[in-house]
Amino acid sequence: MLVLGIETSCDETAVAVYAPDHGVVAHTVFSQIDLHAKYGGVVPELASRDHVRRLLPLVRATIASAGSVPGDIDGIAYTAGPGLVGALLVGAALARSVAWSWGIPAIGVHHLEAHLLAPMLEARRPEFPFLALLVSGGHTMLVEVRAVGQYRVLGETLDDAVGEAFDKTAKLLGLPYPGGPALERLARQGTSGRFEFPRPMTGRPGLDFSFSGLKTHAVTTFHKYRGFPGIDADIANAFQRAVVETLAIKCGRALSQTGFSSLVIAGGVGANEALRERLRELCAKQGATVYYPRPEYCTDNGAMIAYTGWLRLKAGQQESMAFRAVDRWPLEDLPVVG
Ligand code: KG4
Ligand code: ZN
Repeated sequence: MLVLGIETSCDETAVAVYAPDHGVVAHTVFSQIDLHAKYGGVVPELASRDHVRRLLPLVRATIASAGSVPGDIDGIAYTAGPGLVGALLVGAALARSVAWSWGIPAIGVHHLEAHLLAPMLEARRPEFPFLALLVSGGHTMLVEVRAVGQYRVLGETLDDAVGEAFDKTAKLLGLPYPGGPALERLARQGTSGRFEFPRPMTGRPGLDFSFSGLKTHAVTTFHKYRGFPGIDADIANAFQRAVVETLAIKCGRALSQTGFSSLVIAGGVGANEALRERLRELCAKQGATVYYPRPEYCTDNGAMIAYTGWLRLKAGQQESMAFRAVDRWPLEDLPVVG
């Protein structure tokens, strides 16, 4: 069986072919970074138009690089939400129509579920149940994952997502979009401890997050010390340490609360090496094991969509001929598989 995965929820056009017996046999990502860079963030209309231009050639190229032909594909999975509706519609419409013309099923996948299950693409994978820290450009949540489709959100951000806070702070420091990876590089050059930023919402019980105050703290510090040598790197360092420590404190709390012994780091910010290192250390201390997908499966990709779609198709989940694209979609509304 071969499943084609299509991801167009934001600014990456991504396609993959997944074979249950072999794993990911082909995976390609076309990033729109250059297109949006001069605006300092994703412009939804430009994103949709570019998906229209890129998607079909990328589908052809990915199937060919899997050494396959369209007739070999048995099912198509596409991201149905949450995301930018115009961008989602491009993937949904293409997946649905191609599936119809090839006479195969198509299934709409929840983008966050796909991020949560991405570590399953690795040889070293967690067993259910596990705790997942989902940190991306649009979401920050701690999720209890008991089975495929059985999710409980234990805590989430009340304002900015972690990736968004990284991107905004990076923009303040004059770094190119998307700011996360650039800020991580700059933070390595900074002096640790020159500034101490707050660890928001760690002083009270609960598992929710808030990152907008941290970003404001970065702005205030930046303006106060503007022109001092090395200030940008020191702010990047202090910001990243505060984010990482805040996430670690909440992960530690959630591990104790659930009694789970596996922690998964998912989503784009999961590519951050300082975060991975700190959570490895935390888990070693708490007698838990940390799992994360390789960086290319942390950021948006078609492989996680193909894999999640395959799990649901295999379980006999069917969808009508209508295609779906939704900007909001509670993770807890998904049907359980198995
Ligand atoms: O999961 P993702 O690719 O897209 C969404 O679904 O949002 O996450 C993108 C986010 C961006 O905010 C980006 O700056 C951040 O992940 N990011 C990072 C790193 N790599 C990507 N943030 C911090 N450190 C990184 N190394
Ligand atoms: Zn994502």
